Amino acid sequence: MAVMPSATWQQHALSTRPARLITRSQRALTIKASTGRRYNSDKVPPSTISSRHFYQNEALMRFAARPAQPVSLKQFAFYGRELTPEKILHSANFVRQELPTRMAHRIHDMQRLPYSIIRNPHMSHVYELYYHSFNAIRKFPIIRSLDDNNRFCDLVKDLLLRHTGVIPHVVMGIIESAELMEPAKLDRFAQSLLSSRISRRVLTEQHLTMTNSLLAGNVTNTGANIGQVFLQIDAADAVRQCADLAGRLVSAEHSHGKIPELVFEGDVDTKFAFIESHLKYLLGEILRNTFEAAATKTEGSGERPEPLLVTICDTPQHVVFRFSDQAGGLPPDIIPYLWSFAKGPRSLSRHRRLEQLPSFDAVVEEIEARSDASHKRLSSLSSLTSRPPGMFLGMGLPMSKVYAEFWGGKIAVKSMDGFGCDVYLHISKLGIESQFVEHTSI
Ligand SMILES: Nc1ncnc2c1ncn2[C@@H]1O[C@H](COP(=O)(O)OP(=O)(O)O)[C@@H](O)[C@H]1O
Ligand SMILES: [Mg+2]
Repeated sequence: MAVMPSATWQQHALSTRPARLITRSQRALTIKASTGRRYNSDKVPPSTISSRHFYQNEALMRFAARPAQPVSLKQFAFYGRELTPEKILHSANFVRQELPTRMAHRIHDMQRLPYSIIRNPHMSHVYELYYHSFNAIRKFPIIRSLDDNNRFCDLVKDLLLRHTGVIPHVVMGIIESAELMEPAKLDRFAQSLLSSRISRRVLTEQHLTMTNSLLAGNVTNTGANIGQVFLQIDAADAVRQCADLAGRLVSAEHSHGKIPELVFEGDVDTKFAFIESHLKYLLGEILRNTFEAAATKTEGSGERPEPLLVTICDTPQHVVFRFSDQAGGLPPDIIPYLWSFAKGPRSLSRHRRLEQLPSFDAVVEEIEARSDASHKRLSSLSSLTSRPPGMFLGMGLPMSKVYAEFWGGKIAVKSMDGFGCDVYLHISKLGIESQFVEHTSI
């Protein structure tokens, strides 16, 4: 039966016989055909994309109808200060409700995409992974004891691991679908999927970290961090540390290019509370870009690049970082697409690079979890920040936008063609705008 590209999967399900729309072997073949690589279908849960599944959707709809409960960094920080078993059980049951609710919103978004998009092998993989996790968590009984909580923690850790490869699939899926739906809508879809993913991971990790603290007997937290929230991040120091790493990575790639010196000005003593891994990811992406541009510009000339001016401004609501370089500015052809996952002159090369990754999860931030499943923090961004030089996925700025906006901040780039760029990163201070709720994307 012919399917109009604009038909949603639900409409399609209503008009077709109850049979599997795509089998596992078909899907493996389609993935191979579309990417040139065989996809490891062992990791894929059994297909849920069928018309029958559509009629069994009541549980999903029940969860999708609930609003996500907003939570802020400030709440995290206060909640984690004094830990008791009751607090841990309360947190566990909160996570037990919040994860499937937030997942249901995104699954519902996917169901409203045109059927031809959800049928894309990458998208259907993401859909099935989400559906599987949604079911696994919603079926977990109420957590009444610390033993129950330990079992719950094992489940969510396992699910975190299973979701490690989601980002490349989402991005490849939307690039392959760019002709089937307005790219701006696809971008909104990807942004809300990724933002929701951050929220779920932050909630989960916070709970896991608190559980570990309680089990280790650290019930009163007076240290530098509460869970993932670092209370006194030194803004200039964070830039320096990220610049060291970015400098090493870019120099390794451009042995004949030069990295600029950093010159600081403004409120250089600023300290603020934030999730350190998120801040370092953002700073790392910005610094890699500017170092890359400087190293490319000076490659082989022996010339020293102009210094990178880093201005820090501490306002009542935000900490603002401005990075002013003289590395030539943005290539004009990419400016209209700088923040897009779906479209742009480089989207095909992005797709090619993603499919050439040694494994689909090599790009994502949780890779650490794979090498050490017992690692306390399952979602450090460090491996993404320190990914090999030359891995230009063209997603640094679109991903940074999602992370910055997630916490009520923003990121902007102003370019002077042939001269240089100013990149502004606004970080919302703890508790002021850091509530995270979810919105429907389509
Ligand atoms: N400070 C900068 N100076 C010059 N070009 C830049 C700068 N920042 C970003 N760019 C350009 O924007 C492109 C997109 O950046 P990004 O989204 O981080 O993806 P990637 O770095 O993987 O290509 C870069 O490839 C580069 O061409
Ligand atoms: Mg980049």
